[in-house]
Amino acid sequence: MKNKEDLFAHKSKSWDMNSKRVQNAKGIAELIVKNIKLDKSMEIMDFGAGTGLLSYFVAPYVKKIVAVDNSPSMLLEFQSKCDAFVCETEVIEKDLSIESLERSFDGIISSMTIHHLEDIIALFAKLYAMLEDGGFIAIADLDSEDGSFHSDNAGVHHHGFDREALQLIAEEAGFKNVKFDTASTIDKPHRTFTVFLMTAEK
Ligand SMILES: C[S@@+](CC[C@H](N)C(=O)[O-])C[C@H]1O[C@@H](n2cnc3c(N)ncnc32)[C@H](O)[C@@H]1O
Repeated sequence: MKNKEDLFAHKSKSWDMNSKRVQNAKGIAELIVKNIKLDKSMEIMDFGAGTGLLSYFVAPYVKKIVAVDNSPSMLLEFQSKCDAFVCETEVIEKDLSIESLERSFDGIISSMTIHHLEDIIALFAKLYAMLEDGGFIAIADLDSEDGSFHSDNAGVHHHGFDREALQLIAEEAGFKNVKFDTASTIDKPHRTFTVFLMTAEK
């Protein structure tokens, strides 16, 4: 199971060179900082951290970020930048669609990752279990789209998400105070896509 194909192997080296990606992560991070009371005692997980674009912008506001991702190549890029992060970091290679982490966090952040997991109900139950009481999630992903966001839909299980449907799933898992905001827009030649930020508490 551990050696499943690394779907990001051919993208990891150039991931950060896409300025739209960097701007998207920055916009999401700014909204997280605005909507969540972060502090320098917090240990948070970045789920699907990839090369660390979101982590980088959130790092100044927390004590430690634990980067969890199932792509060894993306995590190599994350590790190569660790010195630039202004908080402690730890990298864990794990596929949260089939495994979990026996740890709990003050919060879990995530950007553009949950559309890669088929079973969103199971994912939210796992995220809930990995949070301290009073902990938060701040999850960003695409609003429902027509399937044209990715040029290659390999590993894409959801063409964005309907906010109301996602709210019900989160509440079913036990989350309270579920809120949505628009974090950023991504312009592609054929259309514009919107990215939501969902926040909620355990
Ligand atoms: C579109 S990238 C986003 C990376 C980063 N969050 C960003 O905004 O640049 C999605 C990331 O989620 C990771 N991922 C996908 N499915 C995963 C799973 N089941 N468990 C852990 N990580 C996963 C991928 O390896 C990839 O690094």
